[in-house]
Amino acid sequence: MKIFIIGGTGLVGSYLLPGLIANNHEVYALSRTERKIEKINKLGAYGILGDIRNPQSFKNDLPPELDAIILLAMPGIQPGRRMTKKRKAALRRETNDFFRHSMDLAIQYDVPIILPGGTSYRTEKNETADETWPILRVGITEIGSDTDEMVNTAIKTNNPKIIQLIFGKIYGNGGLFRFIYTMMEKGRGKILGKGDNYVPNIHAGDAAKALIKAIEKMPVGEKFIIADDMPVTQEDFTVYMAELMNKKRPGKIPGFIIRLILGKDFYEVTRMNCRVSNEKAKKVLGWHPQYPSYKEGLRDVIKEMKENKNYFDR
Ligand SMILES: NC(=O)c1ccc[n+]([C@@H]2O[C@H](COP(=O)([O-])OP(=O)(O)OC[C@H]3O[C@@H](n4cnc5c(N)ncnc54)[C@H](OP(=O)(O)O)[C@@H]3O)[C@@H](O)[C@H]2O)c1
Repeated sequence: MKIFIIGGTGLVGSYLLPGLIANNHEVYALSRTERKIEKINKLGAYGILGDIRNPQSFKNDLPPELDAIILLAMPGIQPGRRMTKKRKAALRRETNDFFRHSMDLAIQYDVPIILPGGTSYRTEKNETADETWPILRVGITEIGSDTDEMVNTAIKTNNPKIIQLIFGKIYGNGGLFRFIYTMMEKGRGKILGKGDNYVPNIHAGDAAKALIKAIEKMPVGEKFIIADDMPVTQEDFTVYMAELMNKKRPGKIPGFIIRLILGKDFYEVTRMNCRVSNEKAKKVLGWHPQYPSYKEGLRDVIKEMKENKNYFDR
């Protein structure tokens, strides 16, 4: 299949591109930088130079026909920096542009598009959320509020044809996870707040494998939660990561300090408690995570990160 990826040089993209090429797909990947275009070409895909906020700048470089589009681009959130109202509004506009322009391309090419989402559900005690649960937008996740409506309208009208993969927190060699790794490396890893809240996780390689299954099965109009099998609290994940990196047990930053330094938007997200079910993805997509729990996944990722940076960041 001829597949156009928007955001193929990010954390998930760096696992996805080689996977699609290995499965004999013809891959076109968008990037804003010449250096990454060269890297895309070296992998055996076709680099397309441009910005999704201005599709006219690259449309002529795309082939006349495509079979599918995947959106993975994410606006540049700077972790560790205070989120102001102005910055949040800009991120929301940017996210909307990414979705709108990508979906417009899918309509023009008359092809299905796979869109990303996040497991922004709030569960209590032993509750487990599935795809029928409402997405709860709080704090920084509000930057995606408008895209929920775009996705639901597209599902209703079948225009464009969409599939949505709703990812847990993605860990792997690159992206935002590199920031968490670097902080831990410096001995500055921290548990945010009490740390007793559950957060769904997924290894970036398993997220990429789910995308490949979705491309090959193409269950149009469906949403799938992509997270591993084992619920874990923020504290257990962070402490285990410190152990793997031979660092001392990370301390806790009280909630009011997080709120003071990083702002309300980050604070609210750090308190979210969420357990999810990945049964639908297993049943319909035939997807099974190579890393069913963070235990094996994190061990391999830390090893990989120690040895080398992400292919696109080197
Ligand atoms: N990371 C998580 O924990 C998480 C959780 C849930 C959902 N998600 C979603 O999953 C998707 C993949 O996440 P990720 O962590 O792999 O993302 P990432 O590593 O931050 O990747 C960012 C990608 O976006 C591209 N990009 C940014 N602005 C662009 C623009 N204006 N035009 C074209 N491309 C642009 C970058 O390309 P260049 O720099 O090469 O131009 C890069 O390939 C995202 O949509 C994200 O929202 C992520």
